[in-house]
Amino acid sequence: MTRWQIPPDTVSLRDYERRFHERVEPGVRAYIAGAAADGITQHENAAAFERLRLMPRALVDMSQASARRTLFGEILEYPILLAPTAFHRLVHPDGELATVQAASLTRTWMTVATQASVTLEEIAKASAVPLWFQLYFQPRPQDTADLVRRAEQAGYKAIVVTIDAAVSGVRNIEQRAGFRLPDDVGAVNLAAYPPVAPVSTSNGSPVFRGMLKHAPTWRDIEALCRKTSLPVLVKGLLNPQDVEPALSAGVAGIVVSNHGGRTLDTVPATIDCLPAIAAQVGGRVPILLDGGIRRGTDIVKAIALGATAVLLGQPVLHALAVGGMPGVAHMLTLLQAELEVAMALTGKPTLDAIDASVLAPSR
Ligand code: LAC
Repeated sequence: MTRWQIPPDTVSLRDYERRFHERVEPGVRAYIAGAAADGITQHENAAAFERLRLMPRALVDMSQASARRTLFGEILEYPILLAPTAFHRLVHPDGELATVQAASLTRTWMTVATQASVTLEEIAKASAVPLWFQLYFQPRPQDTADLVRRAEQAGYKAIVVTIDAAVSGVRNIEQRAGFRLPDDVGAVNLAAYPPVAPVSTSNGSPVFRGMLKHAPTWRDIEALCRKTSLPVLVKGLLNPQDVEPALSAGVAGIVVSNHGGRTLDTVPATIDCLPAIAAQVGGRVPILLDGGIRRGTDIVKAIALGATAVLLGQPVLHALAVGGMPGVAHMLTLLQAELEVAMALTGKPTLDAIDASVLAPSR
């Protein structure tokens, strides 16, 4: 069996995940699948979806059914986007070029990571779908501005600023596995910018004095929203108290995320944070959600509780590692079909029709 074959019993996202763990070497596996600290949040993301129960509806007319919706003025065929994830070349020689081809085949919008292993310009050239660019603020403001300018010039449709990783999480799983980036895989988008100065330990905590001094504040988000013509979303918001600062800064959307459990361990599952955030936002901007989406039923639950769409992170890397470009396309069509099955059997012909009535009262 060649490395990229998709075994016939690969029929769900969990099957890709299992095969990923069988096939990928321990260091890379630890980086991609590993959570922060004890993995409590990562586990909770999925467990919280599993705790929610759906109520079916029988015999609803589905003759006009569609899973489409409009987002930032463009039609999204399914409420499923690719979340930003770093270094796709860790699991496939074509890296993000394979991923964007699969996204294009399945009409799935993709968020390209600052730490992509192929340049944002090359990915844009290979894309037939709208792309968003995930931005990490760089130590030098002119480099951050340059990344935004490059994304605008390459035709990206939105900027997604990650706000939950001002410092790196406590990545014990990665540390135990001794993960190091291979020499031929790197953050090529940042190649032209000078590297971060080494953290000084002579002046207090290396965490506070070293890394955090480059982290943005709401003022920087506000300045970014003013400067770019693109919609700016913030990703990594879990606390409803952060909603007003985000909206005052001018953000056009919010991604409810805990970074797949990779930053602060023991924060709640994203789906459990969604209702309070949706209540606070009150429809002023679209809300997206990632973290633990593995089934079409998870997407129905997220939409029922206020999400416009969801993003997929780790499942994309599982499928890319197992099946290459066709694996990612196959994985996405599996999830699209599962969503349609769930809509049909809950009697919801459109995404707008999905509301809290699809959820069974909790015991
Ligand atoms: C991570 C960083 C790249 O989650 O965001 O590994």
